[in-house]
Amino acid sequence: MLPTSPPTVRFDPLDQDMRFHDFGVYDEIRAAGGVAWSPERGGFWAVADHALARQIASDHGRFRSAAGVRIPPNGTPPTFALEYDRPEHTGHRKILTAAVGPRVAPGLDAMVRGHARALLATGADGRLDLGAGYAFRLSLDVMFELIGAPGHLKDEVELLAEALFLYRTPLPDGRDAAGRLREILQEMVASRTAEPRGDWLSEVVARGRDTEHPLSEQEVHGAIVALLVGGHHSTARATACLLAHVVTHPELQETLRAAPERIPEAVEEAVRMWTPLRWFARTAAEDVGLGGVTVRAGERVLLLYAGANRDPQRFAEPDEFVLGQSQPNTHLAFGWGIHRCVGMPLAQLEVRVAVEELFAATEWVAPYDDITWTSSTEPRRIPCALR
Ligand code: HEM
Repeated sequence: MLPTSPPTVRFDPLDQDMRFHDFGVYDEIRAAGGVAWSPERGGFWAVADHALARQIASDHGRFRSAAGVRIPPNGTPPTFALEYDRPEHTGHRKILTAAVGPRVAPGLDAMVRGHARALLATGADGRLDLGAGYAFRLSLDVMFELIGAPGHLKDEVELLAEALFLYRTPLPDGRDAAGRLREILQEMVASRTAEPRGDWLSEVVARGRDTEHPLSEQEVHGAIVALLVGGHHSTARATACLLAHVVTHPELQETLRAAPERIPEAVEEAVRMWTPLRWFARTAAEDVGLGGVTVRAGERVLLLYAGANRDPQRFAEPDEFVLGQSQPNTHLAFGWGIHRCVGMPLAQLEVRVAVEELFAATEWVAPYDDITWTSSTEPRRIPCALR
């Protein structure tokens, strides 16, 4: 029987407190049946149940992405692929899959390894910040090389990506982050229009002039942002979370050093435990009954992937890091359905290689100072002694 009034929860995705204390809210929503109404930010349904979240993510016909997947919106144009429905989504997806999909990713191993080694060499005095100085730098270096983006923009893109991620617009110096990112993208496009170089950036810019199916300027910008921004913080956080755990759990470090073939299991368990991108929204295209409530056409639903990934119905020890507990086909850290992360094969490779190269360069790694977490999924400073 349908409840007369739906369960409610006061959950605001922008609440600063939520950056550190989100896990309790997921438990609250699950205790209320897995889906609850939040009156914040214009109102939306929050879903923390694994089965329900997966069902909604799979149902791209009734739960759409084109109305935006962020609550609240962050003021940028729709993200390529991510914020489009079919049929546009299919074309976008092909372009991105050609850059980072499962056929391409294995061939990027040597490039990623090269960047990891170069960063580890900067810790020549036996000390390195495995957060900002390794995990966060590695994913940025990899995305810049993959795309063919001009290296001198790295620091600025990092700042802008962070600002947009955390809704910190305007920037500390007063400039508008979305506006400055647009200028940078226009510069990148102009440089490859004037002088194509045979890199991915040149290819996407050329797609903008395709005679049959040209991409709009917004789509060209969106494609670059999807890789440059989408592939950076997410992967950096996953790498940093796993490294922070490994260096503070000697028995795990011993196990993985002795059995490196188990590193991929550790990667999956880290992305489950600390789900780097915690939530994405959908909008209902029609009335849908869901876990005892009715979602009306036009209402928004927030898929709390981080909550689904701690669902005790799905994982025996949801709040513990257990090697082998999660595999790519059980957790929702990369989403599910047609929008499931196109960069997943590259992300998995990057995190694995970051650990493998750290182990290859050292006999033991341990923190010499406190780890600084800037959110429940982001250990930004991991000061370590490398032996
Ligand atoms: C550990 C690292 C990563 C995590 C946890 C992650 C997570 C996700 C999630 C949860 C989605 C689905 C969003 C939704 O349901 O609406 C997604 C989509 C996407 N991700 Fe990732 N991602 C990661 C790495 C990457 C990388 C390395 C790239 C690019 C190189 C990338 C690019 C994208 C793009 C373009 C989409 C949209 C796909 C579509 O709509 O078809 N991600 N990601």
